[in-house]
Amino acid sequence: MNWDDTTDTSAEERLVGASADREDQAVEAALRPKDLGEFIGQEKVREQLDLVLRAARARGATADHVLLSGAPGLGKTTLSMIIAAEMGAPIRITSGPAIQHAGDLAAILSSLQEGEVLFLDEIHRMSRPAEEMLYMAMEDFRVDVIVGKGPGATAIPLELPPFTLVGATTRAGLLPPPLRDRFGFTAHMEFYEPAELQRVVHRSANLLDVEIDADGAAEIAGRSRGTPRIANRLLRRVRDYAQVKADGVITREIAAAALSVYEVDARGLDRLDRAVLEALLKLFGGGPVGLSTLAVAVGEERETVEEVAEPFLVREGLLARTPRGRVATPAAWAHLGLTAPRAQGGGNGQQDLFGA
Ligand SMILES: Nc1ncnc2c1ncn2[C@@H]1O[C@H](COP(=O)(O)OP(=O)(O)OP(=O)(O)O)[C@@H](O)[C@H]1O
Ligand SMILES: [Mg+2]
Repeated sequence: MNWDDTTDTSAEERLVGASADREDQAVEAALRPKDLGEFIGQEKVREQLDLVLRAARARGATADHVLLSGAPGLGKTTLSMIIAAEMGAPIRITSGPAIQHAGDLAAILSSLQEGEVLFLDEIHRMSRPAEEMLYMAMEDFRVDVIVGKGPGATAIPLELPPFTLVGATTRAGLLPPPLRDRFGFTAHMEFYEPAELQRVVHRSANLLDVEIDADGAAEIAGRSRGTPRIANRLLRRVRDYAQVKADGVITREIAAAALSVYEVDARGLDRLDRAVLEALLKLFGGGPVGLSTLAVAVGEERETVEEVAEPFLVREGLLARTPRGRVATPAAWAHLGLTAPRAQGGGNGQQDLFGA
């Protein structure tokens, strides 16, 4: 492994990164499930949301405000569009960072039609004044528009038509409680099970007119980190390989061979993830080692290691963040096919922490 190769890895460039690039966005639009029936997995969320929407429809009312939280690529934007479709309502899409001034929000709110769905992506990144305006709009369907400046400024109350706010956030913990409390329904999206991702892959393959067998879909699903966006992206790369190197049909062998070309291993780790693990195991005996030291060893920024590689490694139980530093778990040694060094004296970090 040449550590220098990994220096310009950003979340967007990674095949397994959870955020969407431009190519993704175009394909994602085509692959988005259009109604709750097409939406795969997230059984609880689907069942609850179905009740909320049905009840609102039966009452002829506007649906309650909905907060969707969960990691990137799990289907928040997709669900917001489904909510609008299920309510037969138009949808307006904006995001927290796009609303810097309360006036931006007032302009959007005052132009909503009755029953319209306002999708506010990255709602945790809204400015404070806009957030406060949103409180009142959500609760009373009213905003105060400030006209003029200084002592002569007056607040003109403006009635809004009832609307449904759908907020999405990857960081629910960052939302101020008064905002969180104003949502009538909060859905937390979980990572998907391999069997669910296999269905996602099958569905997408169908839409993309790609032939794939059950094992091929399972192979892609198993490497997709519980994330439909990644499953769809890996499917596209495997399709390329199958077209060029085989007869276009995706089998387990083709999927595995293709993904090894793209350096996505059997568990979904990519080159950066493996570089971090290898450094931790081979250079630091499994840790504990400080984040900065580990980052230097793989030639990456601290933030890249911490935000791009570690969350998945931690989730997979391959790495632990401890007060003394980063530590590899026994599963990490096994995954890279290495043997953990034997304890000397009081034992090494692994044995203290995991009793292995
Ligand atoms: N339950 C699902 N069934 C089928 N496909 C899904 C599902 N959830 C997501 N997808 C697919 O994954 C892609 C990414 O989903 P989406 O854009 O909704 O994620 P997101 O949660 O909004 O991500 P981000 O936080 O990055 O905005 C979509 O193109 C969609 O096709
Ligand atoms: Mg989204």
